[in-house]
Amino acid sequence: MDGTARKAAHDELLATDIEAYLHAHEHKSLLRFITCGSVDDGKSTLIGRLLYESKLVFEDHLAALEADSKKVGTQGGELDFALLVDGLAAEREQGITIDVAYRFFSTELRKFVVADTPGHEQYTRNMVTGASTADLAVILIDARKGVLTQTRRHSFLVSLLGIRRIVVAINKLDIVGYSQKVFDRIEADYRAFAAQIGLDDITCIPLSALRGDNIVELSPNTPWYTGPTLIHHLETVPLEDLAASKPFRMPVQIVNRPDLDFRGFSGRIVGGTVHPGMAVRVLPSGRTSTVARIVTFDGDLPEAVAGQSVTLTLADEIDISRGDVLAAAGDPPTVADQFEAHIIWMGEHEMLPGRPYLMKIGTRTVGLSVAQPKYRVDVNTLEHLAAKTLHLNEIGVCNINLDRPIAFDPYADNREMGGFIIIDRMTNSTVGAGLLHFALRRADNVHWQAIEVSKDAHSAMKGQRPAVVWFTGLSGAGKSAIANIVERKLHQQGRHTYLLDGDNVRHGLNKDLGFTDADRVENIRRVAEVAKLMVDAGLIVLVSFISPFRAERRLAREMMGEDEFIEVYVDTPLEVAEQRDVKGLYRKARSGQLKNFTGIDSPYEPPEHPEVHLDTTTWSAEQAADQIIEVLREYSRIP
Ligand code: ADX
Repeated sequence: MDGTARKAAHDELLATDIEAYLHAHEHKSLLRFITCGSVDDGKSTLIGRLLYESKLVFEDHLAALEADSKKVGTQGGELDFALLVDGLAAEREQGITIDVAYRFFSTELRKFVVADTPGHEQYTRNMVTGASTADLAVILIDARKGVLTQTRRHSFLVSLLGIRRIVVAINKLDIVGYSQKVFDRIEADYRAFAAQIGLDDITCIPLSALRGDNIVELSPNTPWYTGPTLIHHLETVPLEDLAASKPFRMPVQIVNRPDLDFRGFSGRIVGGTVHPGMAVRVLPSGRTSTVARIVTFDGDLPEAVAGQSVTLTLADEIDISRGDVLAAAGDPPTVADQFEAHIIWMGEHEMLPGRPYLMKIGTRTVGLSVAQPKYRVDVNTLEHLAAKTLHLNEIGVCNINLDRPIAFDPYADNREMGGFIIIDRMTNSTVGAGLLHFALRRADNVHWQAIEVSKDAHSAMKGQRPAVVWFTGLSGAGKSAIANIVERKLHQQGRHTYLLDGDNVRHGLNKDLGFTDADRVENIRRVAEVAKLMVDAGLIVLVSFISPFRAERRLAREMMGEDEFIEVYVDTPLEVAEQRDVKGLYRKARSGQLKNFTGIDSPYEPPEHPEVHLDTTTWSAEQAADQIIEVLREYSRIP
């Protein structure tokens, strides 16, 4: 249908049958797509053109646009569509870290949501956010420039995020004289590259977004082109319900229990279909039941499909909580707690392997730690590079560990069952996104071995209850001096103790570690594990490490039992520690001979609620030690 016929049909339906018109609009399918390219490629112009052509541009907006175009005049008096989009962009909410603008438009046949993201290299995280919900990507290529590094980067990212349908918009064809040769060469180049990354559903369209060629109507300027126009393609590209053909999955959002007779499980279906009588399995518990009803505001349904939000009731009373997944009983997702995954880092601060983060997957939030990357991907060349960590906008493949098992499908099979975000536990901000590949089987083959002599037996024999006394503070604060006195006094009282000291442990177990943030995280993680083993052995463990980060001190705390962790903040102001400078390290740090020195060019995060807060400028080390022993008594660690 060309533009005129389209408008006539629309007007006719509107005039003759308003009910049918409204119905048709409500039930139009929805295509989500992302546009990739830079402003120079004409991306804003193209989006502006689509909005304009779809008649969603408000009259007054249009009038303003005409005035602006005349004023700015970059396009010789013609409407400048880039101005329209940039104008909308200026209204965007302030202060969001993810810079993705979603625009809505609609034609006779379909509704559209287009994600528009800045095309610059640093904005990988924006593109990833926009692409993660898209069904299709429009990749813009400037006909004068052909396939560029950024074209490859955009294609890799959309392919990584599971978009299989690609439209290559070869734009600015007017500037190259509508040359078929140029178009054919770019198409061949692109197809050759795309094949390498597994993309094959590709439609190349010759365009001038500025002049409107092949946007709505086939252009007389490209008589050699026989494919669809851009709008026609977007309107008709099959949306065969991929999600609906998958096995049934519904992460439970809310357990709905208004009264004792009704117990429903609400959530959005993210895969497959469900109907009353169907056998379902609850993950991770593995329990099974049968669907009794599909309840909605408008009454019960005979069936529900992926994309719908519903409430299910089951035939049996089984234990289900928020975050569980309801799945097809015969084709359930896997349950695991260790995986290989792609990680896309979005935090301003680098990823710290070993640090406890949170993972949000579906409706579930669990503890997560990431191992050192196996490799990082150069998004421009697709090369695999060695990496110790990931910085903002970097992508790598890593093994990850959860603190509880989750039900999942590989991202490639189901984006919502295999895609997750990473949240910083301290700031609550999103610092990464990830795509699950597969569960690590090694977890299946390593079991807990039952040990007959328990922690209680160990400590009973020693006549004490085990504990960790965790000293934290700047270098030279006096941690080791105080810890030494505490240990001596306990020893004299016949207690069983061990002192783990940073300088000493760094000569052995941790001699491979330096003083970067990542190495300090690993340093503390290992020492916390060792302290935990010693607590199991019934000892009172004194740990004296700078341990500058709250996150890792909290990790250590959470590993121990109740009343087993006593955090001692040895609070010596930087000036005082620096003045003492027992080891001469502050002098070296100040003169630039020593990098990453705590308090100088590496941060120290003081404890917020330590069990013991020692002000070493007013207390002697002896007094401090006595106070700690008193606290050990209060916590019933020693008689
Ligand atoms: S931590 O930050 O990872 O907890 P740790 O307690 O193990 O540090 O080691 C700190 C000791 O290493 C200091 O007392 C000091 O003697 C020595 N050291 C050497 N370089 C540094 C540095 N860049 N920053 C802090 N301490 C350093």
